[in-house]
Amino acid sequence: MALVPEIRDCAWANRGFHQRAARWIAARGVRQFIDIGSGLPTVGNTHDVVRSVDASCRVVYVDNDPLVRAQSARLLNGTTGVKVILGDLRDPERLRADPELRALVDFGEPTGLLMTARARSGPGPGSVRPPAARRPAHVSPGRPSCCRRDR
Ligand SMILES: C[S@@+](CC[C@H](N)C(=O)[O-])C[C@H]1O[C@@H](n2cnc3c(N)ncnc32)[C@H](O)[C@@H]1O
Repeated sequence: MALVPEIRDCAWANRGFHQRAARWIAARGVRQFIDIGSGLPTVGNTHDVVRSVDASCRVVYVDNDPLVRAQSARLLNGTTGVKVILGDLRDPERLRADPELRALVDFGEPTGLLMTARARSGPGPGSVRPPAARRPAHVSPGRPSCCRRDR
């Protein structure tokens, strides 16, 4: 906070954007969502937001951090129509084939894809900049998607 005092505003702005995007997609009739790089659930999670539009919405949270996955699964335990899986946005084919994801997501139906503040974007090890632009099309071809990258 001392080094980057604007980080608090950035975090709130990011969550606001994520929630508006999710609501916008749900308001257009989409009832299943994949949230990649979901992080830990807090309040105003994707499933909370889209279910305020329609309670039948299904959400698969995807993160490549096993600790995030374990903690998220614990926090969301018992929430029907919501799953947390381990997956990497750099491997969309594997993600699409994941049996847990396929249990909730039918790619024959419109699928909302959300990827916000999920990874750093600069060049160098771990960067997802080159492939990321192609990923939404690979994970969910022709479907509504929302990506917001860290600077
Ligand atoms: C800053 S959090 C963002 C959380 C949430 N999307 C938001 O906007 O508030 C970024 C998350 O992306 C995950 N992540 C980073 N690279 C990823 C990748 N290649 N595939 C899947 N998840 C990734 C991290 O583990 C972390 O939980």
